[in-house]
Parts: sequence; structure tokens; C-alpha cells
Amino acid sequence: PRKIIIDTDPGQDDAVAILLALASPELDVLAITAVAGNVPLSLTQKNARKICELAGRTDIPVYAGAVRPITRGLVTAEHVHGRTGLDGPDLPQPSMPLQEKHAVDYLVETIMNEPDSAVTLCVLGPLTNIALAMIREPALSGRISEIVLMGGGYFEQGNVTPSAEFNIYVDPQAADVVFRSGAPIVMMPLDVTHKALTTNARVAAIRELGTPVAVATAELLDFFDRYDEEKYGTDGGPLHDPCVIAYLLKPDLFSGRQCNVEIETASELTMGATVVDWWGITDRPKNALVMRDIDADGFFALLTERLARL
Ligand code: BDR
Ligand code: CA
Repeated sequence: PRKIIIDTDPGQDDAVAILLALASPELDVLAITAVAGNVPLSLTQKNARKICELAGRTDIPVYAGAVRPITRGLVTAEHVHGRTGLDGPDLPQPSMPLQEKHAVDYLVETIMNEPDSAVTLCVLGPLTNIALAMIREPALSGRISEIVLMGGGYFEQGNVTPSAEFNIYVDPQAADVVFRSGAPIVMMPLDVTHKALTTNARVAAIRELGTPVAVATAELLDFFDRYDEEKYGTDGGPLHDPCVIAYLLKPDLFSGRQCNVEIETASELTMGATVVDWWGITDRPKNALVMRDIDADGFFALLTERLARL
């Protein structure tokens, strides 16, 4: 199986991504590293453990990382995810421990000690932990198999400001470090995730599996849905973060192209915008595989089939 570390700020859609990974034998989840994002770190690290316990995987080590972005103050998203970050189902407080080591130390040690290109990073929140690890160990970027991240947007520009997507907006300096690092990057932007809608029929198919995990997932999605349904008038909300895990399982569900991507870190108006050279207008280096389309029915079929295994 492919070794992955999930760096995340759970978040209902992060939670579903974690469940999808834990349900998939193709993936060996080495650890989960939590970061501040949707809610503060004290909640995201706890939410990560709640999800491991829901999946019956108390063997997965969970590490806490950065409490705030590198230079900016933390912006959170309780208006989307609720006060706990994981509003919806009534999940018990976790009893599995939080690891003592800092997530950034764990990332550096693991990637440097594993064989070259053995570890894939799945990044579902702001890029703070990853950028700090890269700054701490300059050899790190060259040893990562791939960074698959949910973030940014280009034709679909933003969801937290008119021009920026939440994960990049929260820590644009960190995103800038990562996009300049030279590590292979696969970017799942809003252009993809806004096509992966949790319609009533898709959530019903998950709920009908009838297992505790499936019922909790349906409750997470019911809560998560309501914000985007109201805002955009769609049937269902975009299931952002699970697209990262689905790409590792079935890359053919997605299509995109290699592009230059640079991050806006200067203008407050467009802070955190991902400037994607989709049409190859410049000769700047192609530093990311930028996705654009998804087979949404295939994606939800995969998710439902995998959740049934937990
Ligand atoms: C991203 O922001 C968070 O609210 C979601 O979990 C996702 O990672 C979408 O913009
Ligand atoms: Ca997230």
C-alpha cells in the first residue's frame, strides 16, 4: 500500500476524507497531523481523534501542529462547520491519546527516515504544517512522493473572499512556500470540488448502508450541506477534501493539466488567490498538476462502496 500522511483541520469534509482513506486497503495511513483552520487547533486535533475512533482505528497516531498561520492571524469557518468544527452527529469525546511530538517534528523525522519518495502528503487544510516542515528541513521537498492538496480555484475563484479559497487564504505565505518548493503537487481546486455535490440522493445512498459510520457520515453531510445549499442554491454542497483521497485511489476520476501556479501574498484585496497559468501564457515553471474535472457519479460510487467497509 501507498504510505500517506493526512494533514487536516477537521471539518466535516475532512472527516469524510479520513474515513475514505481508512476504508481503503491501497493506502497505509501512517499518521494524521492536525493544523489550525476550520476551527482552532485544540478542536481540529480532537476532531481527528473522534473520527479515528468512529472508524475503530485508535492505532492511527494523531499529532498536533501549528496553532496559527505563519504571519497572519487565524481565520476560522464556524459559519460553515459549526462551533465544534464537526457539528452534525453526536460523536463522543475521544479517549485515544494525542501524540506528544509536534506534527512538524513528526513530518520531518518520518519523511527523512522513510526511503526516498516513500511518503505522499494529503493536505486538507491550510498549508502551515507542511511549509514549516519544509523550512525546518530543506531536503524535505526532494523526498516527498507527491503532495495532493485541496485548495485554490481559478475559473471558480474563491469561497471565502471573491478571489480566494479558504485553505490558501488562511495561510498564503505557507502556500507560497509549498508551491515554490519543487515537490510534485496535485491541486484539487474549487473548479473540481464544486462539481462534487452531496445531493440528497447521494447522501441517502450513504445513509442506507445503515452502519454507524455511514449514519454518522450522512449526519455530517446534512450539516455541512446547508451552508452551500443556501448560498448557491444547489442540491447539496461541495465535498471538497475527499477528492484528494479519491485521486489516490482512482486518478482516472479526475482530469487536469500541468500548470504554473503562484500565490498572491501582497494585495489584501486578492490575498490568497491562486494564479493558475491554465493557458500557458507565461514560461514560468509548471509546478502543479491542476485538476479541472471530476466524474462525480464515479466519485460518490467509490465513496459509498468504501464507507460500506467500515
Ligand atoms: C476547504 O475549506 C474547508 O472549510 C474545507 O474543509 C476544505 O478543506 C474548502 O475551501
Ligand atoms: Ca479541510
